[in-house]
Amino acid sequence: MGITERIERLKKEKNAIILAHNYQPEEIQRIADFIGDSLELCRIAERTDADILVFCGVDFMAETAKILNRDKKVLLPEIKDTQCPMAHQLSPEMLIEAKKRHPCAKVVVYINTLAEVKVLADGVCTSANAPLVVNSFKEKDIIFGPDRNLGYYVERRTNKRIIPVPEDGHCYVHKKFTVEDILRAKEKYPDAQVLVHPECDPQVQDMADYIYSTGGMVNHVLNSPEKEFIIGTEVDMITRLKIELEKRGEEKKLIPLREDAICESMKRITLEKLERCLIEEKYEVVVDEEIIERAKRAIDYMLSISEQGDQ
Ligand code: 13P
Ligand code: SF4
Repeated sequence: MGITERIERLKKEKNAIILAHNYQPEEIQRIADFIGDSLELCRIAERTDADILVFCGVDFMAETAKILNRDKKVLLPEIKDTQCPMAHQLSPEMLIEAKKRHPCAKVVVYINTLAEVKVLADGVCTSANAPLVVNSFKEKDIIFGPDRNLGYYVERRTNKRIIPVPEDGHCYVHKKFTVEDILRAKEKYPDAQVLVHPECDPQVQDMADYIYSTGGMVNHVLNSPEKEFIIGTEVDMITRLKIELEKRGEEKKLIPLREDAICESMKRITLEKLERCLIEEKYEVVVDEEIIERAKRAIDYMLSISEQGDQ
């Protein structure tokens, strides 16, 4: 029996499901039960009746799945170097300090944060719903972190004043994209549409045709009559798009804006680690009960707001 069949059998025996982020390597995406962006994976984690959730992604994603499923076992196939560096750029102390300086402001944090930070927030957001969540508060001033570029994106789409915490929070993968990359790609592929993630720098966002979460990119590419797309996010986004196009028997040209836009933390999971994770039921994600209780409020707020937005 091959490794894929063994994983499938283990999944059934243990009533487990595999969730994978859009940046996971192809072998993981192909075996996953659900692939998605941070918001889509939260929604699945919230609704599943599986006993075990195996999360193929980075630390804050698995932690969020645990917060939404306190009674279930949430496993990460690898814990070494599976941290999202950006999620570690905002500490609880920084937020407490910002709240002291701006007592009337509301606090919205990106889902790319640790649970101890989420407990201090009025709301959490993902790149798919950030303007919606920020706009749901009546206050003009919004303390927002850690991603400065997502803050820029939100400010352009709301009438709020964004107070970034920290000043220079960023994703090292999306920081790589430059205006020159877009000019070069556009020259080579003049008919292609440019799609970028809101974690890209403002100048890059301003030059793109569309700015989307990774889930938004899937919807756009699948539903657009266009045939060529330049993708300005992590390279395995193209894997996800290819899988979806393959299912539909369609072909479209997908060009990475940069070949070296690789999130190392997302590449740590392999089929071998996934199998071992299911056999040994580790590494289990553990979050303190009180933190779960308090962080869940801000995540539930986001889920309720974004559900209203879907209607
Ligand atoms: P998405 O929610 O758009 O998938 O983004 C998550 C992320 O970490 C992007 O770098
Ligand atoms: Fe974090 Fe950037 Fe990797 Fe997304 S791409 S998980 S923000 S390091």
